[in-house]
Amino acid sequence: MIDYPGYDHLIRTVYEHNQEHVFEYWDELSDADRGELLDDLSDIDFDLLRKLLSFKESIQDTNFDPAPCIPLPGTEREKSAYLAAGETGAAYVRKGKVAAFVVAGGQGSRLGYEGPKGMLRIGPASNRSLFQIHAEKILKYSRKYNTAVPFLIMTSRSNHYETARYFSENDFFGLSPEDVFIFPQNMIPSLDAEGKLVLETRKSVFKNPDGHGGSLHALHTSGVLAQLKNRGIETISYFQVDNPLVKIIDPAFIGFHVMAGADISSKAVKKAYLGEKVGVFVRFGGGSIGVVEYSDLPEGKLHDRDENGNLRFSSGNIAVHLFGREFVGRVASGAGIALPFHRARKKINALRGGTTAEIEGLKFEKFVFDALPLADKNIVLEVVREDEFAPVKNASGVDSIESAQKLMMDQHRKWLAGRGIRIPKKTRIIEISPLAAVEPDDINTDLVVPDEERVYIS
Ligand code: UTP
Repeated sequence: MIDYPGYDHLIRTVYEHNQEHVFEYWDELSDADRGELLDDLSDIDFDLLRKLLSFKESIQDTNFDPAPCIPLPGTEREKSAYLAAGETGAAYVRKGKVAAFVVAGGQGSRLGYEGPKGMLRIGPASNRSLFQIHAEKILKYSRKYNTAVPFLIMTSRSNHYETARYFSENDFFGLSPEDVFIFPQNMIPSLDAEGKLVLETRKSVFKNPDGHGGSLHALHTSGVLAQLKNRGIETISYFQVDNPLVKIIDPAFIGFHVMAGADISSKAVKKAYLGEKVGVFVRFGGGSIGVVEYSDLPEGKLHDRDENGNLRFSSGNIAVHLFGREFVGRVASGAGIALPFHRARKKINALRGGTTAEIEGLKFEKFVFDALPLADKNIVLEVVREDEFAPVKNASGVDSIESAQKLMMDQHRKWLAGRGIRIPKKTRIIEISPLAAVEPDDINTDLVVPDEERVYIS
């Protein structure tokens, strides 16, 4: 057994769990590097890893119906419910009770972009990054509602420093630094097919971020949740970094959430087609609301249609949620409820015998929508897909930079047209800065769009 003063217990634990191969390069490491390796090992929960390796993913409960959903406003009654919710939500935001929370710790492997995904330049005319667009929206909402909406940004070990530097080098895009909270999520080791830890370097093991579901825990462990409580924040508006169309502060959504006294509220869009790879909102037999992943939806339910021929399980999850701060505290502090880990086979780079090679590994992640059934009260609100959802997942084709830019431009054209503003024929590329408008009513009707090919309205 290796020896290092002060770390006896940890070293014994590593050997007891048959993971001593992590000391393969021990003899070559300096004392400082040995200390680093031991520090890296010290935050590993070896018992948890053992459990994760042997657990069987629980069989998906198939006793469920479509979740009840607040529909798009059609009837007069629905329209007035929307108006009332909008007023309640706006008053609530004005009182400074809402924080915006983006999860940006993912690795963006499908996109293949080097660096934090939030730094991806997406603005069709402005070339602004996803982070800048989100930050400017939050600045605009803060001005509109005469408050300071805190902006919470969850990163992971691999992109934390770059993200923090990006915000500080850009003066937080106009936000006050004390309103921006950048904190990393937790990491969990990946394992090889035999359940062994994998070395990434001679002095560190391979770890992956613990999934977007890790965000609730990270809010707690980072101390941000406590700071939100001190600031009087009651509701956390959660979204993903790769959706430039997200309505970060939506008064009607917030109003419905507050009026219902919900722990979690979620936005849904109608599935675009039967096989679309989105999770759907359901109500389980016991009454709780949840999301069933597309791959877990039984064939019968996938094809199930109502008397009008519409898909019954059609409320697609777009990962836009409101979380009650108190509820997050309950889940994150592990007070009897916790999110489960899911296991996925993924390629990882392993250092063995002096060389690094790609191996088939096991990664463990938590999913944020697993929090839904833990809530006492949920709301699901249907929204219009092209108004609020433009995911950037792939380098090209479906859900790519190009498709998201087109959706952004379509939206901005629609907003201008709705305000009676003429767009010159010559204008091919058009974008409205969030600082100018986060909704059509923010646009001045006497605005004149210049007769140019590329127009940025700021
Ligand atoms: P995705 O599941 O789309 O993952 O994350 P990704 O990392 O962006 O891309 P792929 O799957 O590797 O291609 C959805 C959202 O959840 C965040 C991402 O940053 C994105 O905003 N996320 C995901 C985290 O914050 N942490 C994670 O561990 C995983």
